[in-house]
Amino acid sequence: MDSLTIRRPDDWHLHFRDDAVMEGVVPYTARQFARAIVMPNLTPPVTTTARGAAYRERILAAVPEGIEFTPLMTCYLTDNTDADDIAHGFATGVFTAAKLYPAGATTNSDSGVTDIRKLDRVLERMAEIGMPLCIHGEVTDHDVDVFDREAVFIERTLAPLIVRLPHLRVIFEHITTADAVQFVDGAGENVAATITPQHLHLNRNAMLVGGIRPHAYCLPVAKREVHRLALRAAATSGSAKYFLGTDSAPHAREAKESACGCAGIFNAPYALESYLAVFDEEQAIDRFEAFASENGPRFYRLPLNEGTITLERADNPVPEVLNVNGTAIVPFHAGEMLGWRLAG
Ligand code: DOR
Ligand code: ZN
Repeated sequence: MDSLTIRRPDDWHLHFRDDAVMEGVVPYTARQFARAIVMPNLTPPVTTTARGAAYRERILAAVPEGIEFTPLMTCYLTDNTDADDIAHGFATGVFTAAKLYPAGATTNSDSGVTDIRKLDRVLERMAEIGMPLCIHGEVTDHDVDVFDREAVFIERTLAPLIVRLPHLRVIFEHITTADAVQFVDGAGENVAATITPQHLHLNRNAMLVGGIRPHAYCLPVAKREVHRLALRAAATSGSAKYFLGTDSAPHAREAKESACGCAGIFNAPYALESYLAVFDEEQAIDRFEAFASENGPRFYRLPLNEGTITLERADNPVPEVLNVNGTAIVPFHAGEMLGWRLAG
């Protein structure tokens, strides 16, 4: 097979940032995807309907002329989230979902939730109105090893949450472990997961062998090979519970190449090519369209996109660095040759 035409896909998890970097990264995503779930971890975070509506306008202003692209906004949950406000945001179409960051789990999560039980009323309301909950699934306890934080989150937080609120629709985002796959497979239809390209390509050796490689560092951190293989099996299994979410997270090159480098991989520019390489290697190209373009909208109860995109087999060299509206950012696969290219 030398070319693949599929329904236009969506990205169900990414970071656009704000200001000049946002203006520089939005076109990469708009070129590949019809819609994207936009993370709210700005400074200050997108915690209210008013902020969500204003941020959406700024993103729309950065979409290149002639391209149709719809940002789907999320609300950043805090200990003090106003259930009425986010229900209003959901009812009026400003918010598509709400995002749970355990406080301190990752970039700009300091205002996140300190104890999920503080959100009982908000989450009950979300379950009632059918508003999906996106979860960064890692505990933040200092005594829990960083490689175990996802598995411990399942046991301590996620499993009990699903029991308390069996109708809440939950997206377990950017999963990185076989434990997460097992949990999602065993849960009801109200639980789904996104998988990033980097967690399908990289295990923790990629980050730590032969020198420390900051551009392979993101959160949740890449795990052992056995986990990467479980994620590849899940993504290519055909199960409707798994869908595409890049977690594209641009940081300036110097912020990553630092004594305390930021977490996040900028994968928006070659996201589809990167995912398709995995489906190709796993001999599952026939399952790519469901993962990229169908499972996500079905879970979110949104219409499937009209229109198609085509990928063709061709050498596709990835630059070492991109000038993103004045900021140097190293893309995922920098310096590598990909074997697929978005046509047109
Ligand atoms: O690696 C990550 N980067 N993980 C996250 O959860 C946040 C993101 C960011 O905003 O940079
Ligand atoms: Zn993210």
